Amino acid sequence: MLNSDDGTRAIHDYWNSHTLGLQYVRDRGIEIGSRAFFDHIRPWMNPFKFPWIMERIARESERLQGRHLLEIGCGMGYDSLEFLRRGVRVTATDLTPNAVDMTRRHFEVEGVEAADVRVENVLRLGFDDDTFDAVWANGVIHHTGNMPLALREIHRVLKPGGRGILSHFYRKPSWMYALKQLPGVNTEFEDEDPPANEFLTEGEIEALFDGFEILEVAREHHRLLPVSRTGLKGFLYSYGLRPVYNVIPESLAKRIAYKYSVTALAVK
Ligand SMILES: C[S@@+](CC[C@H](N)C(=O)[O-])C[C@H]1O[C@@H](n2cnc3c(N)ncnc32)[C@H](O)[C@@H]1O
Repeated sequence: MLNSDDGTRAIHDYWNSHTLGLQYVRDRGIEIGSRAFFDHIRPWMNPFKFPWIMERIARESERLQGRHLLEIGCGMGYDSLEFLRRGVRVTATDLTPNAVDMTRRHFEVEGVEAADVRVENVLRLGFDDDTFDAVWANGVIHHTGNMPLALREIHRVLKPGGRGILSHFYRKPSWMYALKQLPGVNTEFEDEDPPANEFLTEGEIEALFDGFEILEVAREHHRLLPVSRTGLKGFLYSYGLRPVYNVIPESLAKRIAYKYSVTALAVK
């Protein structure tokens, strides 16, 4: 499944030791994978930290009742869990076995059942053409190292008219893109950023959707939200940058929003 030639090995190794969520553990005594663990990091996880993600999950779930959604890059499964709770049939996948194990454990703790939870590389999906009613990927495609191929695979496994709900791409120009030009500023974990971490313009992002009809785009994360980081960088962000940035008028702030989300139909 992994091919070191396309750089996926390095991406796999990074994410297998940096499952999203581990950076938010403040209680070192907590048992990883326990109910207390999932409760402890929940406020920092995507649908809880970013209300627009939960709203999107709720909206899409109404449309997808009983239908089959594939999640790509599920991490610890917080998004899939919310779809499952709302009556969507879910196959949750990630490139890394550690994320898949955490997702299985998470579903077990919460008493929900997915259609499947398994390792899958979006650059080479092991599903037949026209399998899913929807594909959800949240914060994943810009980490794959080959965004056009990822979109082609998503298009392939979607049924005709299936929904690609891709929250989000990293956008430029944006406040985070500007911060990233400074030494030592990482977007994900404090120690090291992932091997692939691409920022694109809106035009470049939309051009990836060849074979899709784009239904909706949204500029998101245009306000600086609380962070779990501590230390000098956390202090400067929370008490220097954030209060100043957040008084910029909304229309201006949106022009330098960090993220861009796209919902599109597969045209076949
Ligand atoms: C920033 S994390 C997001 C995790 C989760 N979606 C969330 O919001 O909590 C990126 C995820 O993408 C996964 N990923 C990276 N490259 C991938 C690929 N080629 N195929 C599938 N998943 C991939 C990583 O293993 C990681 O779990």
